[in-house]
Amino acid sequence: MNKIVGGLFLTLEGGDGVGKSTLQRSLNQRISEAGLEVIMCREPGGTILGEKLRDALLGSKKKEVDALAELLVFLAARTQLSTEIIKPALERGAVVICDRFADSSIAYQHYGRGIEKSIIEDLNTIATTGLMPDRTILLDLDPSVGAKRKGQAQDYMEQETIDFHNRVREGYMYLARESPGRWLIVDALQNEDVIFDLVWSDLAQRIKD
Ligand code: TYD
Repeated sequence: MNKIVGGLFLTLEGGDGVGKSTLQRSLNQRISEAGLEVIMCREPGGTILGEKLRDALLGSKKKEVDALAELLVFLAARTQLSTEIIKPALERGAVVICDRFADSSIAYQHYGRGIEKSIIEDLNTIATTGLMPDRTILLDLDPSVGAKRKGQAQDYMEQETIDFHNRVREGYMYLARESPGRWLIVDALQNEDVIFDLVWSDLAQRIKD
C-alpha cells in the first residue's frame, strides 16, 4: 500500500444537495486505484458516538434545539471523529475524505445562525486540537436548486428559510475567497463528470507526488 507522509486530509463543503457524497465516492475510487488507503467519513457522524449525536440532532424534522447547544453537539461529534478516526489515519499515511468538517460550523452556525465567529473558531481549534484540512472543495450551488435535487426536506436544517441557506452559501464563498490556498471553488451546477475532472486535476499532483 502506498503512503503519503503525514497523510492527506480533504474536506468537502457546501449547502444541502450539492453532490458532496457523489464526489466523495468517485474520489474514493480513483485514489484507491492509486494504491493509497482512503478513509471516508461524514459530519456529524463517522463514529458510534457521532452517529448517535447525528440522530439526536438531525433525527427531528422540527427545530427544537438552542443554537449554542446545536453548535456544541456538532463539536462533540467532531472531537470524537478527529481523535478516533482522522488523526490515526493521517498518521498511517492515508487519504481522509470528510463530507463536512469545521468550516460547516462557521458557515451554518456563524453565517446562518449568527453565533460569533471567533467563538466558533476557538471551539473548532479545541475540538480538533488545531487539525486543518489540506484542501477543501467547495461545491457551490444556488440553495433553491439544491433543495429541488434533495426533494422533500429530511431534517429541520433543510427546512430553514431560503434566506438562511443563502447566508450559508455567501459565508462559504467568503471563507473560500479568504484562503484560496486551501479552498477550491467548484460550480456544482455542472455535470458530475466535469466536476470530478476539475477536482481530480487539482488533487492529482498531491496524490502522485
Ligand atoms: P446531512 O444530512 O449530512 O446534510 P448534507 O447531505 O447536506 O451534508 O446533514 C448535515 C446537516 O448539518 C447539514 O444541513 C449541515 C448541518 N451542519 C451544521 O449546521 N454545522 C456543522 O458543523 C455540521 C458538520 C453540519
